[in-house]
Amino acid sequence: MTDPTPPTAPTLAFTGVAQGLRTDYCGELRVADVGRTVSVAGWVARRREHGEHLAFIDLRDRTGIVQCVVDGAADLRSEYVVRITGVVRHRPEGTVNAGLGTGEVEVGDCTVEVLSVAEPPPFPLDDRREVDENLRLRHRYLDLRRDRMQRNLLARSKVNSAIRTAVERQGFVEVETPMLIASTPEGARDFIVPSRLSPGSFYALPQSPQLFKQLAMVGGLDRYYQIARCLRDEDLRADRQFEFMQLDLEASFVGQEEVLGFISEAVVAAVAAVTGEPPPEIGRMTWLEAQERFGSDKPDVRFGLELVELTEVFAATEFNAFKAPCVKGIRVPGAAADFGRNKLDDLTAQAKRWGAKGLVWMKVEAGGVLASPVAKFLSEAEQAALVTALDAAEGDLLLIVADERPKVWHVLGLLRLELGRPPVNEGGFTFLWVVDFPLFEALDDEGNPVPAHHPFTMPHDDDVELLARAQGEEYLQVRSQAYDLVLNGWELGSGSVRIHRPDIQQQVFSLLGIGPEEAQAKFGFLLDAFRYGAPPHAGFAFGIDRLVALLVGEENIREVIAYPKTQSGADPLTGAPTPVDPAQLTELGLRILPPPTPPS
Ligand code: AMO
Ligand code: AMP
Repeated sequence: MTDPTPPTAPTLAFTGVAQGLRTDYCGELRVADVGRTVSVAGWVARRREHGEHLAFIDLRDRTGIVQCVVDGAADLRSEYVVRITGVVRHRPEGTVNAGLGTGEVEVGDCTVEVLSVAEPPPFPLDDRREVDENLRLRHRYLDLRRDRMQRNLLARSKVNSAIRTAVERQGFVEVETPMLIASTPEGARDFIVPSRLSPGSFYALPQSPQLFKQLAMVGGLDRYYQIARCLRDEDLRADRQFEFMQLDLEASFVGQEEVLGFISEAVVAAVAAVTGEPPPEIGRMTWLEAQERFGSDKPDVRFGLELVELTEVFAATEFNAFKAPCVKGIRVPGAAADFGRNKLDDLTAQAKRWGAKGLVWMKVEAGGVLASPVAKFLSEAEQAALVTALDAAEGDLLLIVADERPKVWHVLGLLRLELGRPPVNEGGFTFLWVVDFPLFEALDDEGNPVPAHHPFTMPHDDDVELLARAQGEEYLQVRSQAYDLVLNGWELGSGSVRIHRPDIQQQVFSLLGIGPEEAQAKFGFLLDAFRYGAPPHAGFAFGIDRLVALLVGEENIREVIAYPKTQSGADPLTGAPTPVDPAQLTELGLRILPPPTPPS
């Protein structure tokens, strides 16, 4: 019989492990054990009466469930903790449960020892019912007993272990970095911790170990890694928590290619540890290609609906809406019939919320005739060229946006996801390297360029000259040696070749509007370190919560974190955040201001 465990469930084997109160784990008993006297220990998952005295007890531990036939089990209730000793035997003909690993056997002639009694749990612990998340998190210790959480956390442990082995195999050494530090600029708000010994001064919690890992390179450690906790005070979403874990890595005397190799080996090992097989070969795409074809710097390449360039088609158009620097469209095959007027209006409203000025839709009819309220504004030649460019056929729905190029990418990129995105782990695990990110992603209100990664990223070799003479919008043309790893459309990680020369670092700081004094105050220790012989170095970090969530098919990283925060940043289990004792505040030299009065 094949084991019915789903492919994402890690296999467990405890043979040879010290057993304490038990001889065996519940979920591991098999036909080969028939005849053995065993002791199993765990929680009463279910109890069914069988006649007057006999009861079937499903006993649960981390490995699964085994059925125990108990005589006189009157005082055994759900979630009692018990130890059962008995003899493994075949289940009677016709009662075999093929859906259960232990489904061919049961434990009979049982003696039962109650180790702990339990109140009835506030929600059922089987996986069949959806339970309110707040309730789950308030009693997380019970929620953790459920199969889903057990499976997810065991997968997580496997992933961590596989990653460690993979990077250590490549010569990386684990170095722990501090939690109470000065700020690291990763673009989010810092969590800060007041200092008792220096009232009025604060530590920041690390947004990442970025600066310490670079200093470790100056320190000659050569290849650093850490499964690092990072803290960022940002709005929480399905793929974001205040606290999260990164595989963080940095190496000296290597460039982008080597880093991509190190990280590939780690993620391939992680996938294999959970699914039993490595993912397909990891593809690669430039940032520009990702934007042009998928309208995103984290393209989900598991499905088509690619963006098609139409700017040339409408170069001389009379239609005002298409007189724009960029026109692009997507073809939704066969979707014309599914989209009635209401749905199209909703889609248009959605596109406008994303920032579009409008959305043109067209339905392709027989003979390539276009049905659309705006078709009459387009010349016959334009209509024909449009059909050719989009390779459109009868029954297709065409969606077109005209605007500044980045806006077109953004809106069509989101539309594409809205219309075609498969569930997170459908179709296997498609990793993609996105390389040649721009150095700057925008200009701020004062015209200073805003870094796309962090300010320690090396400009692209071919764009150093451009950087030196760039002005205004030209900054946005400068490429960097930054790269991202994408998995099924989620940004999994980022990294870059770093600036290792104090003069270039100073130049980038000043471009970012960080003057020499501010640079010295904030990053003086880094600039100082670089004066004492900094090796060229490069690195990367990927989010472990995100990787594990995708590998086990969860849409929210909370499901793979033992003790997460809710969307509003609270921990229903401990009640955090809580007010503190006034004496504690006094000791820290702090006073709480009254809440701001709302404007009348
Ligand atoms: P970056 O800021 O891109 O890079 O972070 C790397 C990865 O960390 C994960 N991540 C998060 N996961 C959950 N919740 C969050 N709030 C959160 N924020 C980030 C993502 C992201 O891709 N020091 C650089 C790396 C480097 O240059 O070496 C850094 O931290 O998966
Ligand atoms: P208007 O000229 O604003 O009346 O728009 C005519 C049609 O073109 C409407 O269907 C709009 O949604 C659409 N439209 C307007 N501006 C754009 C644009 N920049 N890109 C795509 N469609 C647009």
